[in-house]
Amino acid sequence: MSANQTAVGLLLEELETPALCLDLEIFRGNIQRILSFLGRHKLQWRPHMKGQKAVELAQEAVRAGAIGVTCATLYEAEVFLQGGVQGILIAHQIVGGRKLMRLARLQRHAPVIAATDSLEHAQAMSRAALQEGVVIPVVMEVDVGMNRCGVPAGEPAVALAREIQKMRGLEWQGVMGWEGHALKPEVKDRAEVVKQALARLAETVVALEGAGISCPVVSASGSGTFLHAAGMAGLTEVQAGGAVFSDVSYRNWGLDYEFALTVITRVVSRPTSRRIVVDGGFKAMSTQHGMPLPLGLGRLQHMAFSAEHGVLELAQEDACPRVGDLVKFVPGYTDSTLCLHDEICVIRRGVLEAVWVIPGRTGRRVTAISAPVA
Ligand SMILES: Cc1ncc(COP(=O)(O)O)c(C=O)c1O
Repeated sequence: MSANQTAVGLLLEELETPALCLDLEIFRGNIQRILSFLGRHKLQWRPHMKGQKAVELAQEAVRAGAIGVTCATLYEAEVFLQGGVQGILIAHQIVGGRKLMRLARLQRHAPVIAATDSLEHAQAMSRAALQEGVVIPVVMEVDVGMNRCGVPAGEPAVALAREIQKMRGLEWQGVMGWEGHALKPEVKDRAEVVKQALARLAETVVALEGAGISCPVVSASGSGTFLHAAGMAGLTEVQAGGAVFSDVSYRNWGLDYEFALTVITRVVSRPTSRRIVVDGGFKAMSTQHGMPLPLGLGRLQHMAFSAEHGVLELAQEDACPRVGDLVKFVPGYTDSTLCLHDEICVIRRGVLEAVWVIPGRTGRRVTAISAPVA
């Protein structure tokens, strides 16, 4: 049991630090903003949970109106299914014999859509499905310009789709793409890059339809891009996940949502009138993809993190905050911060209302669902 599991009902100020805290009302407000924006554009929402991982977060999204969740790993899919979440899409190629068998077994509980982008991989999925006596629903990942995974758009995509359609044990669902290259710092016109990327996906859908292959699922887009993706031809659903939290990175990418997720730390030392040392370092807050943003302090001259210490140098002398006071940080990137923690302290109006565990990181609390089901 963690330090804060026994703190439910206490004030935020009383929690043991460092602690990852979710402001429930802001989080729910962000979900409503996403849903009403997508609703206006007739798009469905299947939020990416790679940066969320907790079952309750997935349940909150689905309860509010998401059609399911997008996952990056089998672990995530397993814990969400176990938590009763349906409509799962794994936006990652599941490779390797043992993993493919786990993917196949999941289908006995509920359909879990899996991504593929090559003949070899689709054939391996087909073999696993046949061996387990199930059907695996598949989306074909199309490279929309990110140069990560994905079959090239257009004719190569049509050729692969034709093969997938012939394979026993697989059920064609449609296509997915991810325009993550639009978030590169050097990109000047993000809207234009998103437009071009999704045009590749749309052209592929048209080519597939021309070949008699319909695409009920056309899935793409993330929190840093979906505001530009709305209205793009062919798109049926959006994978934006981290927008439910917002953070420094998303702000820089143009999302003005309120910050729902913070890391609270406590001042442990004031060695000088300008230096503040807190009990959270890079093991509590990722510094990858941008530095965390401390709230409520004067202008900073410098900030550095070691493993368990955060060191902040104020530009001006100040007696506050004092030793024992809280310093709240907005993560530089929530995705790479949440995975450093085992649980989320759920705060409503300044009080700890619940503690949600984050099992999707390793799936270690899930065993039953991985076993064969009779
Ligand atoms: C396949 C895929 N879809 C969508 C996203 C966007 O995720 P988020 O909205 O959480 O930033 C990502 C991010 O890396 C991704 O890999």
